[in-house]
Amino acid sequence: MDKFIIRGGKRLSGTVTISGAKNATLAMMPAGLLVGGVFHFRNTPELRDVATMSDLLRSMGAVIDLKDGLLTLDTRKVTKQEAPYEFVKKMRASIYVLGPLIGRFGRAKVSLPGGCAWGPRPVDLHIEGIRKLGAQVELKRGYIVASAPRLTGARISFDVSSVGATGNVMMAAVLAKGTTVIENAAIEPEITALADLLNAMGARIAGVGTKHLEIEGVDELHAVDADTIADRIEAGTFLAAAAITGGSITLLRANPDHCSAVLVKFEEAGCTLRVEKDRITISAPKTLQPVDVTTGAYPAFPTDMQAQWTAMMAIAGGSSVVTDTIYADRFKHVPELARLGAAVTLKENAAYIRGVRALTGATVMSTDLRASASLILAGLVAEGTTEVLRVYHLDRGYQAIEQKLRALGADIERVAGAEF
Ligand code: UD1
Repeated sequence: MDKFIIRGGKRLSGTVTISGAKNATLAMMPAGLLVGGVFHFRNTPELRDVATMSDLLRSMGAVIDLKDGLLTLDTRKVTKQEAPYEFVKKMRASIYVLGPLIGRFGRAKVSLPGGCAWGPRPVDLHIEGIRKLGAQVELKRGYIVASAPRLTGARISFDVSSVGATGNVMMAAVLAKGTTVIENAAIEPEITALADLLNAMGARIAGVGTKHLEIEGVDELHAVDADTIADRIEAGTFLAAAAITGGSITLLRANPDHCSAVLVKFEEAGCTLRVEKDRITISAPKTLQPVDVTTGAYPAFPTDMQAQWTAMMAIAGGSSVVTDTIYADRFKHVPELARLGAAVTLKENAAYIRGVRALTGATVMSTDLRASASLILAGLVAEGTTEVLRVYHLDRGYQAIEQKLRALGADIERVAGAEF
């Protein structure tokens, strides 16, 4: 397990290229199971989660290669319809194979993901969705075991907007007999990207990008080449890195449209933004203004930026409240930020933050992906040296984060070692 050593206090400047979106790739790869063919996905991020998804699909018979951002996925020899616990426990997004497997092969056996580092994350909506499409679903010894000769279209209305359940039901429904309607579908850009991919493969999904999807089942699909959208959370994290260090940077290959709610908050915090087609330039003030945020389903402020915003507000010139309505317990970064001198009190699903003049370096521990990002951000501004342990969480979702930060002027190094 590697660790990062950060000597804080450097203002970031320069340009950084944003990678392809992790959460788009993790939905696109399982979509390849819907047909036997060869796909090419450009701008695929080189991440541990993508490697885990590759291993999972390989265990089913797929052949996968990822080089210089080009992912080649050959699903012609997929013969197994099982996602074993050893993969699902590493990465919850493994559940995405459920929909395409039941849709194409009429059966699937997928390990139930457990809770995650910050609390429970149910999959009831995924199961309810494929049941509505006519699948028999049993829970056996920790596995979801689903079967159906051929799924049939149905009307599904989600009580809660769920990215994963929308993606799974969409993938299951594209090959079903008849029409499926999904109400209260998630409209996150990664789900829209998945729908666009499915339509390019020959699916008939109407209402893409809206909460009301109508899917007319087709008999077969075909493999395609596709581009991966930019990672809006990586973009937001680099904006936060500039903001927290009082710096000025330009993001290249970003998609500002996908970051609107976040960009508004950076402006409220006193940052100056210049937004062009695929780039965002940010210049931060000397002291950030305190700004409250409340997370919500897209297009609201994303829960995946909550920890990073909390870190920024820790050194703002006043008090703010950060509320998470998606994951009430997602605050494992708070006690670690406190080790760096942040003044944050937790109450229910909100962090009450009193901005302090400065943070001070200390040793802190990563607990999950975005919590780790918030600790890196805090380390960039903390006086002295910060050591962030267990950075493997970061490698799940940020491609070469320390190299990108170093190129912007940060003093950060990775130290390899088993004992961290
Ligand atoms: C996805 C993202 C994750 C992000 C999250 C919310 C991927 C691979 N991961 O996760 O980075 O933090 O969206 O934007 O894309 N829920 C249920 N029952 C279910 C499913 C979800 O109650 O069956 C609830 C969850 O507890 C949560 C809310 O729905 O409160 C949204 O979760 P969901 O959108 O499903 O998140 P994921 O798809 O797991």
